Formats: sequence, structure tokens, C-alpha cells
Amino acid sequence: MCGIIGVLGSSEAAPQILTGLKRLEYRGYDSAGIATISDGTLDRRRAPGKLTNLETALSDSPLKGTGGIGHTRWATHGAPNETNAHPHATHRVAVVHNGIIENYAELRQELEAKGVVFESVTDAEVCPQLITHYLETENCTPVEAFRKAIERMRGAFAFAAIFSGEDDLMICGRKGSPLAIGRGDGEMYLGSDAYSLAPFTNRIIYLEEGDWAVIKREKLKIFDEAGNPVSRPETVSSASQGLVDKDGHRHFMAKEIHEQPEVIAHTISRYIDGTSKTINLPNGAFDFAKLDRLTISACGTAYYAGLVAKYWFERWARLPIEIDVASELRYRDVPWTKDGGALFITQSGETADTLSALREARKNGQQIASVVNVPESSIARESDIVFPMAAGPEIGVASTKAFTCQLAALACIAIAAGRQRGTLSAEEESELVSGLLEIPRLVAEALKQSDKIETIARDIAKATGIFYIGRGVSYPMALEGALKLKEISYLHAEGYASGELKHGPIALIDENLPIAVIAPVDAHFEKTVSNMQEVMARDGKALLISCKDGIARAGEKTWATIETPKSHPLLSPIVYAVPIQLLAYFTASTKGTDVDQPRNLAKSVTVE
Ligand code: F6R
Repeated sequence: MCGIIGVLGSSEAAPQILTGLKRLEYRGYDSAGIATISDGTLDRRRAPGKLTNLETALSDSPLKGTGGIGHTRWATHGAPNETNAHPHATHRVAVVHNGIIENYAELRQELEAKGVVFESVTDAEVCPQLITHYLETENCTPVEAFRKAIERMRGAFAFAAIFSGEDDLMICGRKGSPLAIGRGDGEMYLGSDAYSLAPFTNRIIYLEEGDWAVIKREKLKIFDEAGNPVSRPETVSSASQGLVDKDGHRHFMAKEIHEQPEVIAHTISRYIDGTSKTINLPNGAFDFAKLDRLTISACGTAYYAGLVAKYWFERWARLPIEIDVASELRYRDVPWTKDGGALFITQSGETADTLSALREARKNGQQIASVVNVPESSIARESDIVFPMAAGPEIGVASTKAFTCQLAALACIAIAAGRQRGTLSAEEESELVSGLLEIPRLVAEALKQSDKIETIARDIAKATGIFYIGRGVSYPMALEGALKLKEISYLHAEGYASGELKHGPIALIDENLPIAVIAPVDAHFEKTVSNMQEVMARDGKALLISCKDGIARAGEKTWATIETPKSHPLLSPIVYAVPIQLLAYFTASTKGTDVDQPRNLAKSVTVE
């Protein structure tokens, strides 16, 4: 994840920005930089590698000024070198950016056609160039230019900018990635989280989705996406006491659900080359062309991520998949193949069943790979190859952002496997990569249904239980929906393949047992809808989770609907995870359970 810091203070800004950047180190980074404004002049220092490199650059050549912005970068577009490091700047503006600008290539082309010369190959640089274009060719004020630029950019991101000639001005905005403003006495701060601001202030204002803000030392103006002035509450953060805090959310689980646009963007950025629209796997990864079978294993939610991936590997790579929960796999007499690979999926990297299954696979001559969130964990250390995810620390017991990051990483791996095995064309790869690049924005869109889902959850909390159904890639999502709900709300829930309902479970349907129908408009939509109608014909209450088009086609007479943005059909699980998680979260909050620490459960299960 990239990290952003901004300071409009009364003492030298660069050392303070460096302090804030150090507190963002946990997000991971490969380069960093700071820009300041002094007597109307912008200046910047940037360095690849560790923050100490930036510190050295600053001590060799200090930056003057009491206002500035800083950034830790995790490379998405372009190598982690000084030229691609943030802040990106023109003679008029310096900008730091976190996230992905989906349409940067077309914006860049448009500007280049007008004679603009770019310095880097990053998506982020379109932002200062676009702002400068509006400042110079349309004579806009900094506020107007920033607003116009942010309106042109599609994706999930956060920005902050400082302007030449404006010592008391910082403008920032968020769409999908978090931003917190810290208020001091005659000083203002900006950070990707409250923890990074803890050395300066505990008075924190969280920007909401789509908000942008004009910050001066004594004055703060916040606007919503439509440009209306809004007021956002000031909270007192407890961030200074812990490593990470809840950033204004009631529970870590809610915070982690809302972090998903950002962390998914960072996960896919580890695999995607946004310019060529291709996937690159880390060095030493499997040669998928030589594998005769891939065995996938994991526990709980991570296992469901693997189940979704099974559909992807089969479809895109035509690779035979063996999949089982880790607690069973090692007790079976698996006929391992000679050229087989085994893939383990785990957030913690310490789950005992998964580790044992890994050792069993190794004993049987399999090449071992894992998708792991904690790089220094046992499973990462015992794997031949680690496919990274960039979910950041997950504190809530229920897996949320780790799940969607696992899915994002697995989608990339399966696409790369398809290319290696010659079963996926370059055009198909490019189409899927474009689909993946849209996901962070679509997830941010899906989060906007929060209030509606909260209302629905109040009714679900009164039910005797709930069934989830889905078909194809939505079948594992039905299993995940049920697991999440029972785990934190203690309400009985089951997930079924849509077609299986009529083979027994339908007998349980009545008006007290709603059915959540996961039905993206894909090749299975009509069949899933007909399964939903079987339920409705038996007085069952159907909750249809689908896109606008799906709801228009099948929403009539359902008990409730949740609109979920339309994505590439096979990638829909990453977006549909959001309503599923929110439904579980709000049902549990209604019932007053301990959402972050449900009874009988621990974050990582280290005994078999
Ligand atoms: C459910 C959940 C668990 C974990 C499972 C595996 O919300 O969190 O089902 O997914 O215990 O944990 P990891 O991924 O750490 O191996």
C-alpha cells in the first residue's frame, strides 16, 4: 500500500513528514519522497528503497518550508526508481497519490497530444499534469483545477496536492482509498490513517468516499463528490497507543471491509503491468506449462477463495485441480502426480492444518507455492514460491480484506497460468487485466450500499436462520456468505449450490428463513433465478444480490434486493464479497455480538 502524509504547520515540515512516513512503513514501500513549499516555491527530494535513503537525501540537501506532502510508494506502474517516486510535480503543483487511475493511459495520450511532456511512466503523474493543464490553459484557480482533474480520473485512489505561490494551501481528495485530516492549533495534517498522524494530533476527521478538502492552517473546507460543502465529525483518535487503530470505525472488521478498494489495488499491482495489460508472476514461480495437476488447500474462508480459484484455473488454464480443506487433505490417501504442484492459501501463514497439509504435499514430491499475507510466517518460509497479497494487518477475527486480496492474487496467478499453458490468448489476458483494474473502484461502489444493507440486516437478525445460494463462481461465495454470518452473528446459516436446494434443503424454507441469492448477470443468471423462484413459490423470502440489470430482470416480488456493481462476470466474487461481508457485519452488530472477537474463535488456528 502507498502512504500519504501532509503538513501545514509552523515549524519545518520535512522532518515531521518523515516521522509520519515512518509510521506508514507497515504498509510496505519501495521508494519515498517529500515536496515542500517555501516562499511560494516548490521543491522535492525522492529516493528509491528504504526511508533511510530519503533521510540521507534530506540531510545532504535539506528542504525548507513549513508546508509539504510526503509519500511512500509501492510500485504499480513503473519501476521503483527515483523518477517514478512521488511526489510528482510540475512547476505549478506537486502531488502524492495512492491507488490506481484506471484511465491514465487515455488521459496521458490526450495530454501528450497537446504537447505535455511526462517525466515518469506512472499513472500518478497524469494528476499534476492535468491540474497544470487546467491552471494554465483554462486559467483555473488551484481549487477549480484540482476538482476538474479529479472528476476526469476513474479508479480507486487518494490524492494530496500543494501549489507554487500558495504557502497556505493543501488540497486532497479520496475515491476508494482512505484519508484522515488531523487538526492542530493553527496547524493541519493529512495522513492515510490516524496512526501516522498520532505524533502530531489526536483530533481526526475522516474523509468519506468521494470527499475532497481545501486545507489551510486555520481553515478546513470539505466537499462531497457533487461539490456540496459538508461537515464531517471530528473524533479523538486512540491511535497513539496501538500500532493500528479503528480509523473512525466501530470495529476493526468494518475498517477492514472499507480498506478493500485500497488493498485490492495494492495486491493486483504486485502482479499487473498496467501499461502492457499483462500479468507478471514473481521470479521462480511454477512453470504452469509443466504441471500436470494443481492441488489447492486451505481452511475456512481461505478455502473458499481456493474454490473460486478452481473455476478460474480450470477455465483459463485448463489445469486439472484437486481441492480439499487442509484438515482433510493430509488424512486422505491422495494419489499425488509426478509433476504436480500444490498451492496453499492463508492470511496468517500459521494455520496448523494448512501447514501440515503443505508438509504432506512436500513429502509427496509436490512443488509448493502459497498465497500468504504475512511474509515472515511459517507457511511463507516453507514454500518454494510465495505469491504475495497486500492486505496489510488484519485484526478482526473474521477474514474480509484478506479474502478479497486472496481472490485478487489468485485471479492474477490463474490468468498467468493460462498464458503459460497457451490456453488464454493475449487479448483475453488484456481483457481480464482491464477487468481486474476496475475492481477497486467497483468495490468502493459496492460499499455505498452500506445503509441499505444495514436495514436489511435488522430483519435478518430476527430470522431463524438464512440460506445463501449461488452457481458457478458464486457457489463458493454462498458458502462464504454463510460462514461469515454464522461466525460473527451466531445465526444459523448454510450455503448451497443453487441447483442443490431442491435435493433436500428446500424442505426447511418458510417465511422465517430468508434466502440470499447471489446472482451476478453471468452465464448462470437465469438458472439461479429459477432456483430463487422455486423458493418464492414456497413462501420463501428471497434477497436478490445482483447488478442493476439483474434486479430489473428478476427483482420483482423478491423480499429485498442489494444492488452490486457489474464487473467482468468471472471476477464478480471479488465485488460480491462486499455485500456478503456487510450483511454479516450488520446482522452481528444488530445482535450485539463481539464482531472483532467472536466466541470460540481465534485469528489464527495454530493447533490441528
Ligand atoms: C473466517 C476466517 C477463517 C480463516 C481460516 C484460515 O472468517 O477468518 O475461516 O479464513 O481460519 O485462516 P488463515 O487464512 O490465516 O490460514
